[in-house]
Amino acid sequence: MRDWGRPRIFATLMSQPTKEIPLMEKIVSLCKRRGFIFQSSEIYGGINGFWDYGPLGAELKRNLRTTWWNAMMREREDVVPLDATIIMHPAIWKASGHVDTFSDPMSDCLLTKKRFRSDHVEPQSGVVYHWSGAKEGDETARKEIQLALDALSPSFSVLLPAGKPPESARKIAIQYYQQRGFKIPELQGETTEKVENSRAFNPENGAQLTEPKPFNLMFHTFVGATATDADKAYLRPETAQAIFAQFKNVVDSCRQKVPFGICQIGKAFRNEVTPRNFTFRSREFEQMELEFFIKPDEAIEAECGSVAQWSESADLSAPQDNWGWDMWHRYWVKERTAYYAGIGLGADVLAYHWQTKEELAHYARACVDILFKFPFGTEELEGIAARGDFDLTAHQNASRKPQDVFDEEVKNAFAKWTDEQRAALIERKKTEHRAKTTGGLSDEKVVEWCERLFKGFYVPHVIEPSAGLDRLALAVLTLAFAEVEKTDAKGNKETLTVMRFHPRIAPKKIAIFPLLKNKPELVAKARDIYESLKRHLAADYDEGGSIGKRYARQDEAGTPFCVTVDFDTLGEKGPELKDTVTLRHRDSGEQERVKISDLLGIILPAVS
Ligand code: GAP
Repeated sequence: MRDWGRPRIFATLMSQPTKEIPLMEKIVSLCKRRGFIFQSSEIYGGINGFWDYGPLGAELKRNLRTTWWNAMMREREDVVPLDATIIMHPAIWKASGHVDTFSDPMSDCLLTKKRFRSDHVEPQSGVVYHWSGAKEGDETARKEIQLALDALSPSFSVLLPAGKPPESARKIAIQYYQQRGFKIPELQGETTEKVENSRAFNPENGAQLTEPKPFNLMFHTFVGATATDADKAYLRPETAQAIFAQFKNVVDSCRQKVPFGICQIGKAFRNEVTPRNFTFRSREFEQMELEFFIKPDEAIEAECGSVAQWSESADLSAPQDNWGWDMWHRYWVKERTAYYAGIGLGADVLAYHWQTKEELAHYARACVDILFKFPFGTEELEGIAARGDFDLTAHQNASRKPQDVFDEEVKNAFAKWTDEQRAALIERKKTEHRAKTTGGLSDEKVVEWCERLFKGFYVPHVIEPSAGLDRLALAVLTLAFAEVEKTDAKGNKETLTVMRFHPRIAPKKIAIFPLLKNKPELVAKARDIYESLKRHLAADYDEGGSIGKRYARQDEAGTPFCVTVDFDTLGEKGPELKDTVTLRHRDSGEQERVKISDLLGIILPAVS
């Protein structure tokens, strides 16, 4: 979950690199070689933070998209989809807080000008050498310059890691002052100080970084021909806001009643300060988001007498009427975990980070980040936040269009309450809001809110599971990657790559080979099988090279099943083998003889 507008403790904790970089290099190279992922605009030198998906990658991503779409919407009755535009009215981003606070802290190296995300700088310890300025040591230059040398000579510091000679720090400082116009800088007023875990210096050369400055991550553009500030619009940095902005239209046009959700998959854009770790932090990426709208806990209390309390043994298998935000939040964590298990990401590769009070956005009640063990560290795959009624209320206030719903059941439930019960609820809410340090309502507003609720009106609260499609694609690519040692017929050892994708997400499900490409009967039969299967499955046909080579090619692509058509298929060894083929399983290498007419029945259940 993006931690903008709040402390960045988590981002720091989670960015500790591990020593598996060579594995990442192998994966990046396979991705290019086999057409999973290419650098965008590579023929022009590439563009940092942008990636294209090649033929296999496009299929892989599509399969991931489909599994999410089916699990989150198609297979449920309480979620409906949305497909909104990337550019929306800029007022949306003002109301959501993105214009003012969607930023990352940024620092520049004073020497190389390299830009860093301040909270991602590796913490360093050592001795800081500080100089109050420099003096020109070259007399001629001194005369020539004849200008305010002081302005060219600000103070400067260098962090010297333990064991390095002080001269190396001075060398950096001299380079710095040379860049500012000094011919022979003489360093002035040297002092030293020990520092621990500082993020104020460039880890590559020790040079001082500028103070962190907020850098808004939204890409902007202009709508219309005049291109003035009034025409400024943004590429969406998340898909969620469109869901909030269209909430009323969806409620009015479909027969869903709270609790229900609206989901969307689509592109999002963030001008990340430091895109990194292959596609992990990109500037253009896809999100898969669900906004699940629920009743406020007070409404549940009125309807059910009390709100279900979560405990370790709570049954989260099916939603219940007496669930408040906490149970719904836990339910979605469980649902999302089950989704990941269904595509091969089990408990052994996932981790959970429950955000602490200090990490939570002021409006959020809880947020859990689902993390994946990437080769470069355990990092966020998805955030699941309980966001209260913050988003819809923000749009209600900014647009002056009511975003509340009328709920007959809630009205009827409160109709049974006594005046004392209502007064007690009002007092309880006042106390809650008075205790809030930010975002609390005045007593007057609390009364207004309660009175509306008693009549059955409320702004729904929201649970938001928000996942990144590209991060998921990267996770399954790194998880699938395996190397196996093979010895060929001549006794030579070679290392082959097998992409062990879960069959549901594998780019190609099956490949069909004729044993020999120069036997027209074999080719015709293999093509027949291919033609009939490709209508149902992503299938491949390959007749080039030995069968071993073709298996190896499909293993690298992650194809779970291969079928070979041989002379037995044609019935040359007798009628009992006629119209049977060899079916080879990618992970076990096992081969079995199956009837062509049974192929679909065997493969389809395994891949869907
Ligand atoms: N609406 C909430 C939201 O956007 P987020 O944590 O900022 O929350 C959700 O983003 C997910 O989007 C992240 O968990 C991650 O998977 C993905 N994501 C965010 N920034 C990304 C980036 N720069 N590159 C790739 N994926 C990103």
